[in-house]
Amino acid sequence: MKEGHLPVLADEVMSTLAPAPGSLQIDATVGGGGHTERILEASSPDGRLLGLDADGAAIARVDKRLRPAYGDRLVLRQANFREIGAVAPEAGFDAVDGCLFDLGLSSFQLADTDRGFGIRAGGPLDMRFDTARGVSAAELLATLDATELTALFRRYGEEPQAGRIARAIVEARKTGPVATAEELAALVERVAPGNPRGRRRIHPATRVFQALRIAVNEELDALQEALAAAVDLLKPGGRLVVLSYHSLEDRIVKRFFQAERRGCICPPELPVCVCGRNPRLRLVTRRSATPSQTEIAANPRARSARLRAAERLAA
Ligand SMILES: C[S@@+](CC[C@H](N)C(=O)[O-])C[C@H]1O[C@@H](n2cnc3c(N)ncnc32)[C@H](O)[C@@H]1O
Repeated sequence: MKEGHLPVLADEVMSTLAPAPGSLQIDATVGGGGHTERILEASSPDGRLLGLDADGAAIARVDKRLRPAYGDRLVLRQANFREIGAVAPEAGFDAVDGCLFDLGLSSFQLADTDRGFGIRAGGPLDMRFDTARGVSAAELLATLDATELTALFRRYGEEPQAGRIARAIVEARKTGPVATAEELAALVERVAPGNPRGRRRIHPATRVFQALRIAVNEELDALQEALAAAVDLLKPGGRLVVLSYHSLEDRIVKRFFQAERRGCICPPELPVCVCGRNPRLRLVTRRSATPSQTEIAANPRARSARLRAAERLAA
């Protein structure tokens, strides 16, 4: 891709999914279509891919860019991946060889000055992946009280100054709404500037922005629901690959894989299993994969990425 979003850990994703000709694959987070394109290329001439994204602009962009080369091998749907269990079978993808989740947001979204995802890009604080559904970040900032805002920044941003920032927002609302990314970034910088001598130069509002985006899109609940549904869609031997970008996501993926690998979910104090669940996954690699320094230098967004992969066992 000349501009836009560089796919993260692309070689590792490809060697793990190993998409063969004739296979059926799902890319649950199409974004800029970088992974989608690699999968379609590798599964030529007749592999098919279902691409989902909650963001209609992402779907339209990828449709325009990849349709001419891949025709009806590429099936696109604007959908939240928490609906994958219904959307995929409807599109003919009910027993698939691979399913990829590349979580979070794309460089296109981060740079969009109309959506407020990026501290640098600025703009109205919307932050919804699907702009037709749900409540914007500005609305949350305008309606939650200080206790609720504190909990949100702590839970989804692990922000140590959550209380101070929340109280400053409620105070600022008395004179006018905190409605743009610029206003929010300046407010956080003023009340919780962080350590100016810190080694990593991340903006002090980074954790607050992450927390709002996760809350607006109910990202953690959506992930939990989607992982379970994706396992149902995999053929025996089919692979589930997840790229996460912060510890809250990665913890969900790791725990989910562990639980599906064990099968039984009975409390340890029970002498015999009563849940009757069998293991459904085996781990492809024990440890998560992370990007090389070379990849991080070329694509700083890859910095915090972790790849985990598991394979569906025969029933
Ligand atoms: C990191 S980008 C994917 C980039 C893509 N792999 C590429 O190579 O270009 C993540 C994408 O997932 C989408 N997304 C995030 N959460 C989603 C959800 N719950 N349902 C559907 N799409 C989601 C975002 O809109 C964004 O476009």
